[in-house]
Amino acid sequence: MKATVIGCPVGHSLSPLIHNYWLKKYQVEGRYDAQEIQPGQLKEGLARLIEQGYTGFSVTIPHKQAVMDLCDVVDDTAKRIGAINCIAVDRDGRIEGLNTDWFGFTESVREAAPEFDFTSGPALVLGAGGAARAIVYGLQHAGAPKTIIANRTLDKARELAGEFGVEYIDWADRQKAAAGAGVVVNTTAAGMTGKPPLEFDVKNLKKDALVCDIVYSPLRTALLESAAAHGNMTVEGLGMLLHQARPAFERWTGVLPAVTDELRHMLLEKLKK
Ligand code: ATR
Repeated sequence: MKATVIGCPVGHSLSPLIHNYWLKKYQVEGRYDAQEIQPGQLKEGLARLIEQGYTGFSVTIPHKQAVMDLCDVVDDTAKRIGAINCIAVDRDGRIEGLNTDWFGFTESVREAAPEFDFTSGPALVLGAGGAARAIVYGLQHAGAPKTIIANRTLDKARELAGEFGVEYIDWADRQKAAAGAGVVVNTTAAGMTGKPPLEFDVKNLKKDALVCDIVYSPLRTALLESAAAHGNMTVEGLGMLLHQARPAFERWTGVLPAVTDELRHMLLEKLKK
């Protein structure tokens, strides 16, 4: 396996650590690195790496949507989500695009909160960007009876909601909607180290509502800390990152790897640096 993560920037990516850990653990011959491709250079950059023998790609920001046009085959789920985060190139050079982010989200919830039932109540999604697409799909796939999107820019919420056949509300109404939610997911980058905080008050949440964040730096975001203090179960963003990588590794090697304590510990150490 010769694989890499492509994006811009990719220097901070944790994907090499994850996949190289699994290569070693499952004794699969190969290597995984990180290759920066500038926006606007995707076509040439991808072709160059394929020529160099790379057959597996993790795709990250800002290429997840643009790469769709460069694939020979896009699987149905990735088409539905409108984004690709994993590519496999076969022997004939045929490029296949997949999406494993939605699986990363639902699996991370199943791991961190096994007793949580997606079908038990409405889901409130904060944000309507690229990450929200996979999460809305994941929620629908897991059987959420209703999904409501709240986004700072209303037009984007409307557009995404229309695409997935779900509801949307004004950003100003998110606190009200939170009162009826079974699960709240922050899909925005707000709350990430160096970004503005997420403006969201957990006080209206039902005690049995689950609160998830896709932000993993810091690992315990202000949202998760305040939700836990309010008595809610929480799911950290690191789980999504780890679990989305599993089906990608499986597609490239045939081995579905496990998220171990050792791997999680390695990532936490790296995040501290
Ligand atoms: P990604 O692909 O990581 O989801 P994106 O497509 O740029 O990134 O989307 C970022 C999302 O985070 C958007 O929904 C954005 O809201 P706008 O559409 O109004 O821009 C949301 N977002 C970013 N910073 C935010 C903040 N401080 N408060 C609330 N929402 C924020």
